[in-house]
Amino acid sequence: MKQKRSISILGPGKVSVAININGKSCRALIEPCVTLLDAMREFWGLTGAKRVCDRATCGACTVLVNGKREYSCSLLAIDLQDGEVTTIESLGGNGQLDPVQQAFVDNDALQCGFCTAGFVMSCKGFLTEVANPTHEDILKGMSGNLCRCGTYAGIQKAVAQAASTTGSKAQRERGKARVSARAKARLT
Ligand code: FES
Ligand code: FES
Repeated sequence: MKQKRSISILGPGKVSVAININGKSCRALIEPCVTLLDAMREFWGLTGAKRVCDRATCGACTVLVNGKREYSCSLLAIDLQDGEVTTIESLGGNGQLDPVQQAFVDNDALQCGFCTAGFVMSCKGFLTEVANPTHEDILKGMSGNLCRCGTYAGIQKAVAQAASTTGSKAQRERGKARVSARAKARLT
């Protein structure tokens, strides 16, 4: 005999939502139709992600969800209660920029800056997907973000610089692992 499954229906009124954003639990009473972008901007003071197209086209609202790039304007906040969200506000600290942010500054990769937070977060996600990207990889991998000021040449250089910084760090880590494995092999 089939057992009856109980289904709980949330909404349409406000419901309690808690999301882990940048390592902190962010809570609010919100309607289930509220997007992650609106919840971040209106309830939790996280205004780095921008609302431009509001329909998954421009990338100005890009954040990482469980390490993957996502348009926060196209996700419902209520669906992210088991996920980890990372926003531009988590980068850098103690007077230091994150290497990706530094690369955008070094390469003059912005004009009005409205798209920049989205590009930086997209670059963070992209570099976890492709460690040593070619120019073609960068063009393709960053094509989900648009810049109305047309600063693409600077952005492409910034992504290449960030990739080389991240790449050398990764190579150092691999080198350390190889040395430690050799040392371990000699001792056993
Ligand atoms: S505002 Fe989200 S993709 Fe444009
Ligand atoms: S710098 Fe102005 S939209 Fe990109």
